[in-house]
Amino acid sequence: MADNLLQQLQETVAYIRQSIKAESNVGIILGSGLGNLANTIVAEKEIPYKDIPHFPVSTVEGHKGRLIFGELGGRKVWVMAGRFHFYEGYTAQQVAYPVRAMRMLGVDTLLLSNAAGGVNTGFRIGDLMVITDHISLFTTNPLLGKNEDKLGTRFPDMSEPYSKELIGRVEKIAAANNIELKHGVYTGVTGPTFETRAEYKLIHTLGGDAVGMSTVQETIAAVHCGMKVFAMSVITDIGIREEENTITHEEVLQAAHEAEPKLTLLFTELLKSL
Ligand code: HPA
Repeated sequence: MADNLLQQLQETVAYIRQSIKAESNVGIILGSGLGNLANTIVAEKEIPYKDIPHFPVSTVEGHKGRLIFGELGGRKVWVMAGRFHFYEGYTAQQVAYPVRAMRMLGVDTLLLSNAAGGVNTGFRIGDLMVITDHISLFTTNPLLGKNEDKLGTRFPDMSEPYSKELIGRVEKIAAANNIELKHGVYTGVTGPTFETRAEYKLIHTLGGDAVGMSTVQETIAAVHCGMKVFAMSVITDIGIREEENTITHEEVLQAAHEAEPKLTLLFTELLKSL
């Protein structure tokens, strides 16, 4: 599998390079309801995922997915508009595959966004949370199986999965633009069910501030292959609260959409600062 993985990545990258000759060391993966940032990007070239060899086979949502090479904040950037989620039936390795492909394209700085449920009682819908750390023990680790030493070490250190340097930059940008930031621990779960009331409480008790169905596998793969990661959650629902509480996917998308302009500003300015 691992020998195969490297070869597959090489074929993926060779295909992308055929149509996109330019270089960038920054990659962005956009979360649910947060895909509009892709429209802010001056796209030089787009490739539908379905055309890229060895990219995970699309489900309905993945079908619209595309890899964009373009410019944001005056910087060249690779953008995955649409990500692969474990709950769609992809393996954890498949979820992480595009991150590894980006690494082989020369990306060393990865920016991630996601929609997440708030379990910190101080959070409100629409808050932006800088992910300072994560809990991934409820999900499947993308590094399971034979290690590909050419990508990274067997036992990667995870003491700083989210780059303090990048967090510091975003804090400055937010302060300069009057954008309030929350900070917290993102807890990765498989989904697709939203959590029960007992589960939100459990996650809160364990030290999670937010919970979501993405990001941790991408971050693990990115750290494994030596990338710096910055990730931000939009709090789209409040899981932990006393009153009756139902959550729908539509509400999540709506809340994400409303917070998106702030997120776009932060990502654009972060890129400019790099
Ligand atoms: N739980 C899990 N994933 C989510 C949530 C949530 O409450 N909101 C958005 N993604």
